Amino acid sequence: MNATAVKVKDCFKEKFNKEPHLYYSPGRINLIGEHVDYNDGFVMPAAIDKGIYFAIALNNTEQVNFYSIDFNESISLSLSEVKKMDTWKNYVLGVLYEFQQLNIPLKGFDCLFGGDIPIGAGISSSAALEGGIAFGLNELCGFGLNKKEIALLCQRAEHNFPDVKCGIMDQYANMLGEKNSFILLDCMNITHETIRVNIDGYEIVLINSKVHHSLASSEYNKRRKECEEGLNILKNHSNVQSFRDVKNPEIIIGFENKMSTEVFKRCQYVVEEIDRTKKAAKLLKENNIEAFGKLMFQTHEGLKNLYQVSCKELDFLVDCAADNKDVVGSRLMGGGFGGCTINIVKEKGVSQFLSETLTAYKKQFNIDAEVYEVNVIDGTGKIQ
Ligand code: GLA
Repeated sequence: MNATAVKVKDCFKEKFNKEPHLYYSPGRINLIGEHVDYNDGFVMPAAIDKGIYFAIALNNTEQVNFYSIDFNESISLSLSEVKKMDTWKNYVLGVLYEFQQLNIPLKGFDCLFGGDIPIGAGISSSAALEGGIAFGLNELCGFGLNKKEIALLCQRAEHNFPDVKCGIMDQYANMLGEKNSFILLDCMNITHETIRVNIDGYEIVLINSKVHHSLASSEYNKRRKECEEGLNILKNHSNVQSFRDVKNPEIIIGFENKMSTEVFKRCQYVVEEIDRTKKAAKLLKENNIEAFGKLMFQTHEGLKNLYQVSCKELDFLVDCAADNKDVVGSRLMGGGFGGCTINIVKEKGVSQFLSETLTAYKKQFNIDAEVYEVNVIDGTGKIQ
């Protein structure tokens, strides 16, 4: 058990005076397929060894007590009083609400959690928060939901309490991630294929820009609406039922004068990204990492110019990567407007790339970017 897990367990025992059950709920990375999970696309995420530990025990009452070590905040409420609040509380209470919506009789419990996942970094601390509590309660109360059902429940929690109309990628990767593998998730059918990745000779490095522009969640919901608008126009003028039906990204050009410039750009990005992700999956299976990396750069261009969810800090980091011959691919990761870039770098060049980039970034923005070298691990589970 690592140091954070021990700390979470010991703090729980001190606070609640009993033995808890321990769970680990990971964050995620995503190699390619950004902003297409809510557009019937494919994405390629994996669960990582940055996440949240949960200590949970039933308490034989109707009362729920949460304590967050990292925020040093707690909430106590009765199960009959579950309602929207703010910040981290919405993620855990949203999960309780969704269990209640299924008419699942929750039992009172005590829960303490803490972790090492950076917040607002595009690594999905929110899915880690939702997933840990949902998985733990499902097990402790014997509800019998499977991991896919739990992921869908967590997605609904995020829609209804924090009010972010997210796709399924984060919750799915958080639950169903597999050690040393990437998931090729078909977001239309909600099924996945596992891709065992051999990236010997390369490293996946995340660089946290340490900026998080506050418009992230409102712009996220706006993008989703713009895509819905665009798809409706496509449906009205063709036999397309889903962005996935647009077999060739060129076809979208024919619709340019039927929608606003913004909506057109969003649609163009989406069909290109769906196409790119399919190509990328093939390249990854063939172990063609260099060609795969080129597609990551293209994704960033699309996110910057067409989908418009980047920012100057992320663009700067990707430009540094593009100028370095040892970096094969780089792009912003997650929802955008700050957070991390994901980079695939030749092992021998990692330290030079990082030192040059961090120095240049500091000089440009006076911010110390943070670096995470992550390992791909299993999705949410119990720690014995
Ligand atoms: C956030 C959402 C995901 C996905 C990404 C962008 O992480 O939670 O569902 O849409 O943004 O790819």
